[in-house]
Amino acid sequence: MIRFTLNGKIYGFEGPENTPLLWVLRDGAGLTGTKYSCGAGQCGYCQSGQIMAVAAMLRSLPSPTDKDIDRKHSNICRCGTYSRIRKAIHRAAELSREGSGDE
Ligand code: FES
Repeated sequence: MIRFTLNGKIYGFEGPENTPLLWVLRDGAGLTGTKYSCGAGQCGYCQSGQIMAVAAMLRSLPSPTDKDIDRKHSNICRCGTYSRIRKAIHRAAELSREGSGDE
């Protein structure tokens, strides 16, 4: 039995060692606020931080290159969606320039 404390409450889990933490929380502890998401590695957990960081970066660097993005954008994505994030940054920059009339 594994015992753990979460949000000040003690929980126990007894099951296979390879049970994902998500199932321990959802099924074992009944904490259904923890979501599985789509299951395709696109959880979105990092998105709000990514968006805020990119918005700040685009203010000072409206047309970032891939190298600029690699150097300046250091937000971590546990799902490893960095190529998609880079593509989204370029698209956000493009839309931002169009909206500002700079293009
Ligand atoms: S999409 Fe899951 S942490 Fe970034």
